[in-house]
Amino acid sequence: MDIERIQLQQHGDSRGMLIALEKDRNVPFEIQRVYYLFATKCDVHRGMHAHRNLNQLAVTVRGSVTFLLDDGSGPCEVVLNDPSQGLLLRRMVWREMYDFTEDCVLMVLADQLYDPADYITDYALFLHEVGTAYRGDMAACQSG
Ligand code: TYD
Repeated sequence: MDIERIQLQQHGDSRGMLIALEKDRNVPFEIQRVYYLFATKCDVHRGMHAHRNLNQLAVTVRGSVTFLLDDGSGPCEVVLNDPSQGLLLRRMVWREMYDFTEDCVLMVLADQLYDPADYITDYALFLHEVGTAYRGDMAACQSG
C-alpha cells in the first residue's frame, strides 16, 4: 500500500518551533475531532481496527510509535517519530500501534465525530469488506 506522509511546515525562530494544522492547507479533510494518546504503556498494542468511513491524520507531537497498516494488500510497518510529519490514515485501512515510547504523545485529527458503529474490529471481516485474501507479508509497502 502507499504510505502517505505529509510534511508539515515548521515555523521556527530563536524561541522554538510551531506547526499549524489547517483544513485543506496541510490537512486534506475537514477537521471534526482531535484526540491524543499519552501515558501509553510500552508493551501495549492499540488500534486493531479499521474505519469504514473515517479519515485521519496522525502526528507524534512527542516521542515515537510504530504503526502497522494494511489496506488489504499486506501489512506495512511505519515508524512515526517526527512532529513535523503527519501520517494519513484513510478509510478502510487496518491499523495497529505499538512500541510507544514512554514520552509518546500521539495526536490524531479526524474528519468525523466519534462513532463506534464506524469501527471494524475483526480482521477477517475487514479483509472480507475490502474484498481481498490475507497475504501475510510486508512486501507491499511503499513510502510516499
Ligand atoms: P479505543 O477506540 O479503544 O482506542 P484505540 O483504538 O486507539 O486503542 O478508545 C479508547 C476509549 O476512548 C474507548 O472507551 C472509546 C473512547 N473514545 C472516545 O470517547 N472518543 C474518541 O474519539 C476515541 C478515539 C475514543
